[in-house]
Order: sequence, then C-alpha cells, then structure tokens
Amino acid sequence: MTTPQQPRAQWLGRWGFVLAATGSAVGLGNIWKFPYITGEHGGGAFVLVYLACILAVGVPVMMTEIAFGRRGRGSPIDAVRRVVTESGRSSAWSLLGWLAMLAGFMILSFYVVVAGWSFSYLWKMLTGGLAGSGVDDMVAIFVANNENPLNLGFWSTLVVVLTMLIVGRGVQAGIERSVTWMMPGMVIMLLILIGYGMTSGGFGEAWRFLFSFDTGSLSSDGMLAALGHAFFTLSLASGAILTYGSYLPARASIVRTTFSVAMADTLVALMAGLAIFPVIFANGMDPGEGPGLIFMSLPLAFQAMPMGTLFGILFFVMLSMAALTSAISMVEATVSWLCDNKGLSRRAAAWGTGIVLWLISTMAMLSFNVGADWTLLGRHFFDWLDYLTSRWMMPLGGLGMVLLAGFVLKSETFRDELGLSPRWHALWLFMVRYVSPFGILVIFVDALGIARIEFGIHWPWLLAALALATLIGELASPRLRQALAG
Ligand code: PHE
Repeated sequence: MTTPQQPRAQWLGRWGFVLAATGSAVGLGNIWKFPYITGEHGGGAFVLVYLACILAVGVPVMMTEIAFGRRGRGSPIDAVRRVVTESGRSSAWSLLGWLAMLAGFMILSFYVVVAGWSFSYLWKMLTGGLAGSGVDDMVAIFVANNENPLNLGFWSTLVVVLTMLIVGRGVQAGIERSVTWMMPGMVIMLLILIGYGMTSGGFGEAWRFLFSFDTGSLSSDGMLAALGHAFFTLSLASGAILTYGSYLPARASIVRTTFSVAMADTLVALMAGLAIFPVIFANGMDPGEGPGLIFMSLPLAFQAMPMGTLFGILFFVMLSMAALTSAISMVEATVSWLCDNKGLSRRAAAWGTGIVLWLISTMAMLSFNVGADWTLLGRHFFDWLDYLTSRWMMPLGGLGMVLLAGFVLKSETFRDELGLSPRWHALWLFMVRYVSPFGILVIFVDALGIARIEFGIHWPWLLAALALATLIGELASPRLRQALAG
C-alpha cells in the first residue's frame, strides 16, 4: 500500500478529494477559456478533438498523477522522486515535478488577471456599471476596464491576496467548504443561462457551431490548442492534481474519482458553451472575439432577461469563486514544497509565494494597457504565459508522466495504487504506454509541421501506426526500461 513519509494532511470527508479536485478543474478554463478558444478555432471540429483528448489523454494522465501523489505523499518534486526511487530509478525524473510546479505558477500568473476581470464585473454588476444597450457598449466597457493599470491591478492584486489567505489557512478549512455549495450553484446558473439562450433565437446556430463540423480539417494550431486545453481544464501536469492526490486517503478509489472529476468538468464546459454562444449569435457578435468573449456577451444576456441583475450578480459571484478554487490548487504544489523542504510555516510559504506571484502577475496585467506594445514574436507577456504552459509545458510534462508510469516504474506501484482488476489494469497500461503518448506525439508532429494530419483520410494510417508502435514498444520494453533507467 502507500508509504507515507511523514504525517500529511488528508481530506476531511469522503467527498473531500472529489470536491477539491473538481473545484480545481472547474474554473475559468471551462467558462472563460473553453468558449473563447472554441470560437477562435471554428467550433465543432475543435470540440471533437478536445473531447477525444480528454478521454484518450486527460483521463489516463489524471489517474497517473493522482497515483503519483498518493504513493509519494508530497509535492510533485518530492512525490515523483520518492516513487522513482522506490522503483530503483534515477531521481532525475523529478525534473518532471519541477516542470509541473513551474507550469502551475506560470498559469496562476495570468489566471489571476482573468479572475480579476470576473471580480471587477461582479462589482460593475452590483453598482450598475454594465448599463448599455448594445454589443458596442459591452466592447467599450471591456476595453475601458483594461485601460487603467491601477484599476486592473487592483482586481488582480485582490485575487492574489484572497488566494494566499485561503492557501495560508490550509487545504481542508479553505477548500472543501467553498466547493460544496459552489458547484451545484454554478450548474444551476448555467441552466438558467441556457434556458434564456433557448429563447434568444441563437440557440440552433450555437448548437450547430459546437457539435457539427463540415470542414475537412482543423488547423494544426487548433489541434494543439485542443490538446493543451484538455490538460489545462483538468488541472493536469501543473502540480495541482498531483498535490491534491497526495492528501488522498489510502482507501479511496482513484479510478472512480478521476471519472467523476473529468465528467463534471466536461459537462460544465459544454454547458458554458451552450449558455454563451446563443447570446453571441443572437447579437451578431464574432465568436472569434478572443479573451474578452464572455465578458462582452453575457452582460447582454443579463440585461435582456427578467431578474437579469440578480442572475448576473449570482453568476459573477460563482465565476469568481470557481476561479479562486482553481487558483488555490495552482499554488498548493509550491507551498507544500516550501513547507516540506524549507521548513517554512504554511502561512510564511503562502505569503512568500504570493509576493513573487504578485510581481509576475502585475507584468501580465500590464499586457492589457501600458505594456500592450511589449511583444516578442507577436505575443505579449500574458499570451506567452498562456501559450508556453498550455501548448508545450503541460503536454510535454504529461507525456513524461505517462511514459514514466508505463515503461519505467515497477508495475506493482500502479497495481497497488489504482487497484484495478487485471483486465482493466491492462487497459490502463495500454492507454499510458501507447494511446496517450501517441495522441500527444501526433499532435506535436502535426504542430511542428513535420507531417500534416487530415481528418477522415488519414485515420486508418494513424491506427496502423499505433498498432506498430504497440508492437515495437512491447518488444523493446525491457530494453527501453533499461535505457531510460539512467
Ligand atoms: N483547471 C482550471 C480551470 O479550468 C485551471 C487550472 C490549470 C487549475 C492548472 C490548476 C492547474 O480553470
């Protein structure tokens, strides 16, 4: 069974982990990012690749990460080191833990800016600052909100402070309680918005936009974005899920937990799409509007519906809470690492991290005003943080994790932790050895322009290649293991 190295906090209730992991997974990624990148990449085909990535890559990676966390009982760096040492492998693999921790921190640095938007819109909703009648007014309000660095900086600073306050108080007290009421609330709000969308005249178009595609292919960039988003939305390869897994009691089922979290997360994202796109189409807006999409469209819906102000307030309260429960999970890795290795108290670790976070997030915030021209290769700092983490660091970190679990470690480790029947275990192994790595590699190969994937035409070839890879992998695996052992 597990090998706890030191007494470690555990979740309070039976549902503690599921709630906290769901709180981490469901956030701005579902409600802000999913709709806007779906819009940018043209809808249906993107959604299909995203769902395939969740199933073929996200779910296996999540099981693996939770197992790493629980087995190693520590921050990503410590947990991975312990687990590889247990199998007699090189501790250099803990670099994967460093990569994850860095990714989590970089994500948080731009995430707090978006969470700041949510808080500022809540304030506007409360004080009547969203009054306006048309699309142009909403665009103008969004632009004006970004223009003043003091205003925008105030809100992102508030998010940093709130995050660190919660993290400083510890995993159980802060996290579990807030998620318990927030998740059901969010679902109800989305249902209300979907109900409104059905009457707005744009619902049919939204449905078609999300769930059908006629183009023969999706851009390489779109595929990479879909893969990256599967990692982002499930909080993978960024330390969050692994660290939460380290607080999971020995008897809880990792598999069942993973499916609950992945399903809840996917459901919320699709619901958010169905809530937002009808408004976009009914008002003749451009779905490819970019990061401001929900802030420019939803206020229009709230204005037009009965009791809209009340619903609007509730919505932004919940969006802000969803953002906070995700934000705390991104620093948990760093904070727990500082506590375990540098002898800091939780509070000191939280505030120390908070200061660094504040500095970097301030730079990200400036990308929307005074720093709008500080670009490198066409991206400003905010975009770089998002681009590097989602498109590269998370998929590569995830790839490393599944290869490590599939080929390098002793098979008992995951047999113990996952507790699957032999047949299901074989399926898991097949997924982490071939399907997930292959999925990630194919998308990278495509994105790097080495070979182009076309929908439909080349799928049989892909399957054939997967079969071949399986064969070679199985034949070479003892040798591969030796080679990778270091
Ligand atoms: N999954 C979160 C969301 O969808 C974002 C997140 C990414 C959280 C990485 C933790 C780690 O908003």
